[in-house]
Amino acid sequence: MEHHQTLFRNEYALAFDHIPQEFPHREGQIEALARTIRPALKGEKPFNCLCFGPTSTGKTGSVKYLFRQLSEYSSIKPIYINCFITNSPTAIMNTILSKITNYAVRRKGVALDETYTMLLKIIKRRGVIPIIALDEIDALLTRKDSQETLYHLLRTYETMEKTYIGLIGIINDAFLTKEFDPRVKSVLCQEEIYYPPYSLEEIKTIIQERVKEAFLPGVLEPGVITLTAQYAYEKDRDIRVAFETLRKAGVIAEKDARKTITVEHVKTAYQEAKHVHIKTLLDRLDDEEKEMLRTILKQYSPNKETTSDAVIAEMVEKHHRTPQHYRSLLRRLEWLRLVDLLELDRRGHAKEIILRVPPDVLEQILGPR
Ligand SMILES: Nc1ncnc2c1ncn2[C@@H]1O[C@H](COP(=O)(O)OP(=O)(O)O)[C@@H](O)[C@H]1O
Ligand SMILES: [Mg+2]
Repeated sequence: MEHHQTLFRNEYALAFDHIPQEFPHREGQIEALARTIRPALKGEKPFNCLCFGPTSTGKTGSVKYLFRQLSEYSSIKPIYINCFITNSPTAIMNTILSKITNYAVRRKGVALDETYTMLLKIIKRRGVIPIIALDEIDALLTRKDSQETLYHLLRTYETMEKTYIGLIGIINDAFLTKEFDPRVKSVLCQEEIYYPPYSLEEIKTIIQERVKEAFLPGVLEPGVITLTAQYAYEKDRDIRVAFETLRKAGVIAEKDARKTITVEHVKTAYQEAKHVHIKTLLDRLDDEEKEMLRTILKQYSPNKETTSDAVIAEMVEKHHRTPQHYRSLLRRLEWLRLVDLLELDRRGHAKEIILRVPPDVLEQILGPR
C-alpha cells in the first residue's frame, strides 16, 4: 500500500482553543495574573482582577495557559467559564459546583441563594479556593441578576469566614466596565491587566512557535510565515487568521500530494481563511439567531433600507413569538456586532438595519438566501 505522506505533526495545534507549549510576549501579563492568585496557594485571600484588551491579544489563551500550570496545586481550583456560552446565573453557579465536586450539577428551579450557600459550604469543607475566570464577562451586562451573582461571588469572604473565591474577569473593551454595577466594578477591578495589540514581529514569532507544534520540520517554504503574519496583521491583527490560513494551506498541499507548503498554497488558503472571524461568530449563534440573520439577509437590498419592523414582522409571522422577543434578538445581534441599528426618525420605533459583515460572505456561510 502506498504510504500517505502527511505534512502535519499535529493539525489540532492550529485550532483556536489549543493551548500552546509556549506563550511568548505575554510574560508580564501572566506574571501579573499569577501574583493575584499567589495568596490562594497559601490559603489566603486572592486578589480579583480584570484582563482587558482588543480581540486576539491572548487574553483567553494566557489565562488557560496559566490555569494549566496551576493544575498541580490542590489548594486552588482553577475554573474557566465563558459567559457568552454559560450566560445565566444558574448556569454559572452550576458550572462552578460541578467543577468543584466533579459531579454534573443541574439544579434547575432551585433558588440561587440556596445553591450559593451550598457552594460556600462545599468549598469551606474541602478547603479549596476556586479561581474563576469569567471570559467575555460583558455578556453578563445585559442581565441584572447576573450582576447580583457576581456581587455575591465577590463578597464570599464576608459571608463565610475564611472562605475565598478569586475572580478573573476578561473583557475586550474596558470602557464597558462602566456598565457594571459600581459595587461589582470596584471589587472586580482590584487589579487591571492590559493586553496591547501585537506588533507584526510579535505575530511572526507567535506563528513560528505554533508551526513547530503543527507541522513536520522543513515543510514550510521560505516566505510562508512572513506572508501569513502579514495577512493576520492586516486583518485586524487577528492571529486566528494566520492559524486558519496555515491549516487550510496544509490541507491543500496534502491534497496536491506535495511535500511542502508554498506561498501559492497560502495565498489560496487565505481567500477562505480571512473570514474566520465571521465564521466563529456565526458558529456561536443559536438557530433562532441564525434564522433572524437569514431574514435580514433576504430583505437586504442595495436600493432600499431594511427596517427592523419589516424583519420583525416576517419573524413573527413565521415563528409566532412576540415582536418584543425579536426586538431583543435584534439587539443581541447588534451587541455581537453583526448589525448596526440606526434611528429612523420617521416611523415609531423602527430602526434601519445595517449589516456589519459583507452580505456575500454571510450568504456563503449561512447558505443561500
Ligand atoms: N502570545 C501568544 N502566544 C501563543 N499563542 C497566542 C498568543 N497570543 C495569542 N495566541 C493565540 O492566538 C489566538 C487568539 O488568542 P486569544 O487568547 O483567543 O485572544 P483573546 O482572548 O484576547 O481574543 C489563540 O489561538 C491563542 O492561542
Ligand atoms: Mg478571548
